Amino acid sequence: MSPASLRPASPRLDPASREEIRYFHPGPSYVLEDVRSAMTRPVVAHRSGEFMALYRSLADRLPAVLRTSGEVYLATGSATLMMESAVISTVDRRILCLTNGAFSERWLEICRALGKEATPLAVPWGEAIDPDRVRQMVRDSPGGPFDAVTVVHCETSTGVLNPVAEIARAVREESAALVLVDAVSSLGGAAVETEAWGLDLVVGGVHKALAMPPGLVLVTFSERLVRAAERLPHRGYYTDLLRYRDKHRSGGTITTPAVSLVYALDRQLDRVLAEGMEPRWRRHLALRQRTLEWAQARGLALAPRSHPSPTVTCLRSPAGRCGSAMVERAAARGFVLGAGYGAWKQDTFRIGHMGEVQPADLNRLLRALEE
Ligand SMILES: Cc1ncc(COP(=O)(O)O)c(C=O)c1O
Repeated sequence: MSPASLRPASPRLDPASREEIRYFHPGPSYVLEDVRSAMTRPVVAHRSGEFMALYRSLADRLPAVLRTSGEVYLATGSATLMMESAVISTVDRRILCLTNGAFSERWLEICRALGKEATPLAVPWGEAIDPDRVRQMVRDSPGGPFDAVTVVHCETSTGVLNPVAEIARAVREESAALVLVDAVSSLGGAAVETEAWGLDLVVGGVHKALAMPPGLVLVTFSERLVRAAERLPHRGYYTDLLRYRDKHRSGGTITTPAVSLVYALDRQLDRVLAEGMEPRWRRHLALRQRTLEWAQARGLALAPRSHPSPTVTCLRSPAGRCGSAMVERAAARGFVLGAGYGAWKQDTFRIGHMGEVQPADLNRLLRALEE
């Protein structure tokens, strides 16, 4: 099979010719039919010339999505793999974990599971992390400097978009700590400016605002991070970020990748880049705006106190009903919503307006919810 046959001409990238989306789960999000069918192409060996040509083509296109002039690496696994790899590969001892929801707490759990000295800066669920508190914490830390700070950009459990640019600036102005960012549910739907914001590591999910099936994870990191990693003698194997970098430079992935998912990524990346990152971010902002106005008009309270995310809206369940009742009612009309997550399972429900969701799809959902 030739490299050209691994990259057949894109059939339907035009939004007007899309299938209707009735799936508003905050990840995995809805995957369009041409991306699903890309996965039926014959599997080839990952060290073959065909696959390596495909991999190089992805390597050329991915930095535009993560807004970096550096390299973007591809791993087979879920996003948590790269959260854990980031800690193993960079943190000698002390780490500050900024928590305001389930996924930022997961990062704290990972650090503790790895035996790191992890300090939480915990703010209540639904609130955004305040960059000034971070500034103070990294400056005045009594136990000595932190090796790294973890933050989740979009807290999918609460629908809060943390001000990562300001947080990264505060950390860098006050310390040498690395800034490790989970952009799992923001990448592709909200501005993520890896380089301009000075982020040391960004973990990007593919199965949220990039509208891919789950199973791959993207990661990019800074030269500062490379230097920190080089000082650590034991970084594991599947978790060694430097191994991903070295293998990428010789043309591929560290182990057998999920080849079929790579085909899907190839197709979906064409769509994402054809739309353009800024227009994509604007479409998501418009989806958020429409959802917030709709909720306000119907007296539904927004669960976050501030910083609502452009990719997922978390709403308090109407009085006397639990979140799952809303999910069930939507299901009865043929729509999928996200239930509340973790500690907020009972009291909230979530509308994932991410990935390939268009305004017309959202309007259809909102009309059905009114019924
Ligand atoms: C913000 C965030 N971080 C991390 C994860 C974990 O991703 P995965 O289940 O792919 O490991 C999720 C999944 O929902 C998420 O929303």
